[in-house]
Amino acid sequence: MTIKSVIQGTGSYLPSKILTNADLEKIVDTSDEWIFQRTGIRQRHVVSEGETTSTLAIEAARRALEASGLNAEDIDGVIVATTTPDLTFPSVAVHVQEALGLPANMAFDIQAVCTGFVYAISTAHSFLQTGQAKNILVIGAETMSRILDWTDRTTCVLFGDGAGAVVLSAVEGEKEDRGIISTHLYADGRKKGILCTSGGVSKTQDAGMIEMQGRDVFKYAVKLMHDVVDESLSENGYTGADLDWLVPHQANVRIISATADKLGLPMEKVVMTVSKHGNTSAASIPLALDQAVRAGQIQRNQLILLEALGGGLTWGATLLRF
Ligand code: UT7
Repeated sequence: MTIKSVIQGTGSYLPSKILTNADLEKIVDTSDEWIFQRTGIRQRHVVSEGETTSTLAIEAARRALEASGLNAEDIDGVIVATTTPDLTFPSVAVHVQEALGLPANMAFDIQAVCTGFVYAISTAHSFLQTGQAKNILVIGAETMSRILDWTDRTTCVLFGDGAGAVVLSAVEGEKEDRGIISTHLYADGRKKGILCTSGGVSKTQDAGMIEMQGRDVFKYAVKLMHDVVDESLSENGYTGADLDWLVPHQANVRIISATADKLGLPMEKVVMTVSKHGNTSAASIPLALDQAVRAGQIQRNQLILLEALGGGLTWGATLLRF
């Protein structure tokens, strides 16, 4: 019997506070023109005092669960992709489990920075394929604003906070054409120094702050995104022309359009939220996916490609029929 891993519902949540490029002009030596031209970002949401990554993850997960039509007791796993957990431990996933009254099944976090959601949905897919779970909440949630150096204009203008979630369910293949077709995960630790934090719990007893060699990351992002989307399509006998939607990690509009160009994909088939959200790391793909689903852009049975690159370097893609 073939098992398909099908997205049954999506949800997302953004903190209400918005920081515009004009707001940032008052903090660092930058301009709306520079930020928009180089990145496509106009604004980003950021958490306020008292809000944490789990605040965002819980709300996004609640919405995804509601959209799936399932009940709390149906969920037999929670996987949260995050680099900015509330605490070093326990995980954000157990915070979500408790808040939504989910059963005492597995719950854990995954850390692959901006590629985190692609890693998390691939992990959930494996659990479903081996019959270890039937319905898993997969969440990407971040408060990147908490690890930004607000005096460093090369990084603080790029990131934002938010969360997105999906319920991924095992469905018998004979009854279902939808589901994950393939996943492609990569990492290259030799490039770990070009995007990292300045510290961490076991090194400096704090979380550190983001440091990035932007030009190098940009160069690798354009090349590796092209390679991984090409692999995802060609291994399954598809070309860019078969895709209904590309849902890319929302880091930079120039990286996204370079990928779309190489695929021969018109920008109308690319979900774009970077102007409103900035780079929300592991949250960016599920956030963009949910917004496109709720806006009626992404429809059932469409062919969708998710792709991301982040610190590590890590990168990957997931091809699925929605
Ligand atoms: O999500 C994980 C993956 N991350 C990414 O994909 C990010 C990849 N990198 C990028 O998106 C781009 O490299 C950036 C948007 C970060 C930077 O754009 P760039 O075109 O590569 O600019 P640059 O770093 O080469 O900097 C150009 C100039 C520099 O001045 P000089 O040296 O030419 O005089 C910077 O100091 O822009 C200056 N600059 C700024 N100016 C105004 C850097 N940041 C700012 C700023 N405002 N915020």
